[in-house]
Amino acid sequence: MRCHAWTILCAPIALIHSACSGAETSLLFPPGFMWGAATAAYQIEGYNTHSDLWDWEVKYEQRSGAAANSYVLFDEDAELVKRLGMGVYRFSIEWARLEPRNNEWNAEAIEHYHEVLRSLRSRNIRPMVTLHHFTNPKWVYEIDPSPWENGEVVREFEEYVRLAAREYGSEVDMWIPFNEPNVYSFGAYGIGRFPPGQVGLLNPTERLLPVMQNMVEAHVQAYRMLHEVDTADADGDGVAAWVGVGQAVSAIEPADPDSAADRAAVDRYARFYVWLFPDAMARGNFDSDLRFDEAIERPDWAGSLDFLGLQYYSRLKVRAQEGLLDPLNLLPCASEGALTQIFGVLGCPAPDLPKTDMGWEIYPEGFYDVVRQAWERYALPVVVTENGIADQTGEKRAPFIVQHLAQLHRAIRDGADVRGYMHWSLLDNYEWGSFRPRFGLYSVDYENGFARELTAGGAVYGEIVGANGISSDLLNRFGSDDFR
Ligand code: NOJ
Repeated sequence: MRCHAWTILCAPIALIHSACSGAETSLLFPPGFMWGAATAAYQIEGYNTHSDLWDWEVKYEQRSGAAANSYVLFDEDAELVKRLGMGVYRFSIEWARLEPRNNEWNAEAIEHYHEVLRSLRSRNIRPMVTLHHFTNPKWVYEIDPSPWENGEVVREFEEYVRLAAREYGSEVDMWIPFNEPNVYSFGAYGIGRFPPGQVGLLNPTERLLPVMQNMVEAHVQAYRMLHEVDTADADGDGVAAWVGVGQAVSAIEPADPDSAADRAAVDRYARFYVWLFPDAMARGNFDSDLRFDEAIERPDWAGSLDFLGLQYYSRLKVRAQEGLLDPLNLLPCASEGALTQIFGVLGCPAPDLPKTDMGWEIYPEGFYDVVRQAWERYALPVVVTENGIADQTGEKRAPFIVQHLAQLHRAIRDGADVRGYMHWSLLDNYEWGSFRPRFGLYSVDYENGFARELTAGGAVYGEIVGANGISSDLLNRFGSDDFR
């Protein structure tokens, strides 16, 4: 939304500043760069009893219960955003709260999110609102047991988006209809981790592609609806609705860099996992047979992204494997705890970088690669809508932030039009089955009135936000050798 020409006009000035500023800010971000943090309703609010995950949670290690109690503590949370100087808060609205029964809208819940928005706006914090973050109202399964596969839910979602746009349009400009549609479709319809628990990954064209197609359709409808209904410019920058997708991306690399087959498999997997949704939304290019010709199957979908949200955490290696995930013929090697042994037996290399508490490899260089690839592929403004680390000790968060932001700065310096960075997460929360992973800039003491406390990494992030850049002191303390 802002500073379109920054990289051309101001980059040289920033670089001069870098060279001259000594101990001051060394890597300066563009003027107007949006600094923020992200959360999701189900993970922080507590007691989302009308959502489909609520009953499903009995399968998990822990239940969400009161989560971080943010349905009650939202005003305190807005103050936490402010305290670090952030200008944007990305959060989600829980569809099941607004519509606990089909076509019955809950006035109290509608008013609640107005209060959340007032609490943010009174502190000059711009909201970035996600409408679907992995959960649905329970009643969608009464309409159809496999709702996103068969598509009945698309019309219902549209009604919800219409209501959100009407209610909140004068308070919100930045919208994300879907969070990580790739992760959600894999989780719910590929590997059975979310309701309805379908396992279709081994047969992706028949079992997963229909889900993905329906989600793109729902996004496109939402995009049009938001632009049609939200005509109020809430923050006065001349744009009433700015709509993107929060896409999960990984740095994808060959299991064996010397193998041409593995390198080709990387390309197939990236097109499927990383680019399928944005290709469909930005270009109308939907590969329903996963053969990846450049055929534009849905020109009517093209142009339905104003920005591309990237959510980067780690890298993933891919091995060519005839007959697996046909027609992709590959094995994705996740670097996650218990699975690594099984993947090792199947021929995946063991993770060889330091890891987060999730077991994910820490790979800041991959962040640069993915941002550059996205920018080169679509020439759309990029917003980093998530990036963060599960870190119980609190020791790894500051280096993680500094090193990732240094790579982001490098991508901007090399021409990518990146408008903002939302750290995941503002505070510790329910990580889809467990409270153990600690992602927060602020920790939450679940035993002690949900007390929030600033972490060391959070303080460093606040320093960066305040300076709109990374000082040479922070680079010396936490940066990688390339940036010291
Ligand atoms: C992405 C998801 O959007 C969010 O819900 C999750 O907590 C983080 N990744 C960390 O796994």
